[in-house]
Amino acid sequence: MKKEWWHNKVAYQIYPKSFYDSNGDGIGDIPGIIQRLDYLQYLGADIIWISPIYRSPLADQGYDISDYYQIDPRFGTMEDMDRLLAEAKKRRMYILMDLVVNHCSDEHEWFQKAMADPEGEYGGFFYLADKADGRPCNWRSYFGGSVWEPLPGTDKQYLHMFHKKQPDLNWENPKLRQEIYKNINWWLEKGIAGFRLDAIINIKKALPMADYPADRPDGLVNPGEMLKHADGIGDFLKEMRDETFKRHHAFTVGEVFNDKPGEIQAFIGEDGYFSSMFDFNETVIGGSPKGWYDSRPVTAEDYKNGCFDAQEKIGQTGFYSNIIENHDEPRGVSHYLPKGQVCDAAKKMLAGLYFMLRGLPFIYQGQEIGMENVDFQSIGQIDDISTLEEYQVALEAGLTEKEALEAIKGYSRDNARTPMQWSGRPHAGFTDGTPWLKENPNYGAINVKEQAGRKGSVLEFYRSLIALRKDPRYEDSLIYGACIPYLRGQKNLMAYFRMGETQKLLIMGNFQEHPQNVELLGNYKKVLINNMDFLEAKGKEIRLAGWQYLILDMGEH
Ligand code: GLC
Ligand code: CA
Repeated sequence: MKKEWWHNKVAYQIYPKSFYDSNGDGIGDIPGIIQRLDYLQYLGADIIWISPIYRSPLADQGYDISDYYQIDPRFGTMEDMDRLLAEAKKRRMYILMDLVVNHCSDEHEWFQKAMADPEGEYGGFFYLADKADGRPCNWRSYFGGSVWEPLPGTDKQYLHMFHKKQPDLNWENPKLRQEIYKNINWWLEKGIAGFRLDAIINIKKALPMADYPADRPDGLVNPGEMLKHADGIGDFLKEMRDETFKRHHAFTVGEVFNDKPGEIQAFIGEDGYFSSMFDFNETVIGGSPKGWYDSRPVTAEDYKNGCFDAQEKIGQTGFYSNIIENHDEPRGVSHYLPKGQVCDAAKKMLAGLYFMLRGLPFIYQGQEIGMENVDFQSIGQIDDISTLEEYQVALEAGLTEKEALEAIKGYSRDNARTPMQWSGRPHAGFTDGTPWLKENPNYGAINVKEQAGRKGSVLEFYRSLIALRKDPRYEDSLIYGACIPYLRGQKNLMAYFRMGETQKLLIMGNFQEHPQNVELLGNYKKVLINNMDFLEAKGKEIRLAGWQYLILDMGEH
């Protein structure tokens, strides 16, 4: 496989609104990010993906962009952005912006012009239809309700796959595509290293639009169904790559949920549309077409199989980007570890298991200190539009208010969006003012200040994982080696080899609170990482304590 500069890096996602507030208005900002770059360097992160900071009404927290060339004043100025790029460069860090081009904001100039003159040039930037012809299709938006919404002041309606303040851009229109490429190149010329590509699989619609069998009493159908029928996205992606990313050797990572069998080679294989894409295989486990309220918890076996299936699918074709959480997901430790058993040892085990899979590890802000879900007490504490929608869905299904909150809170995107916990100071040291979203009350126990430099902390454990992955002596196995499951059938054990050309490492975690024995095929040479300060071994058998995690150097093969 051709080596790329980013293969041996570690990526970190910043959700800027909740990262660090430098001026006391309760909203995290770019100067705040700059002030924390040294921390990110201490951690060992070098690729930094920043969720959207463009001008936006923040109806979907910046994923609704009203100007692709401006920084939202709440996050700072373009001078701040330039300073961030310069400061990152000094530290040999790479900045990724979020590319949100499936849709823009209804407050974007294009949409305003389309409203003023739907038959004019900008009407063609969107999917418009005559109201008089009725609803063109029964697709449900990702945030609930029909994708169709009246275009104010006109006899038209427009399509939005997400919120009604996020009208979809019409990629079939070459003029629109050129506008987008121009913007991408503008940012790349500014010195960013690349992009995370938001909701990118949605840019191709199944045309002509048609109804599909309804999957809920509302008569609508999950948008994923439409995607199954949408062919030809490759033409758009190839064109975008050639006109933008390729010219700048940019790094790109796609948010791709619904790729079709066999597509992975074209997406992220050699000369693929993107450099990498996220593995979401584990995140969707337990989900239900009925809504969050009907989801079931993820077991250790689910998690293991989710990871291994994805690894099998990618093989040596390309590099997945691996996560346990992001700004759209609950906190990984609360989601994947059994309820009531979340402890530092288990957090470290989960960290070590996903981190050493083949691919590029992404850490979401706060994950490195083991931040947990919030125990929301009322729906009034929730800000996120998709959670509010799922709450309604639960009520409509007949749950009481109390039951509905209980059923959905573990899936709320706000679990990941509470302020980063920097210290035990008021509001977790995130702001001197009032944070836009209330901090998790557990910040006294879980914060950076308490963990930095403390032996045995979750943060220091992450630092040791990062250091090992970056150690050039282990590149053969940890970066380029194959991922080969070991004892896959042994319950609540997740173990795999990273097999390089000469090196062989064994990674394993006991995904339960009770001990279990593991039979090795040979003797190990060295323990590289252990999340406990003991190791019980007898001959070729290791007795793993509950939640114990190990990386063993098995020597050459
Ligand atoms: C992506 C983003 C999510 C956003 C949506 C619409 O899934 O990660 O936060 O709401 O796209 O842009
Ligand atoms: Ca601020």
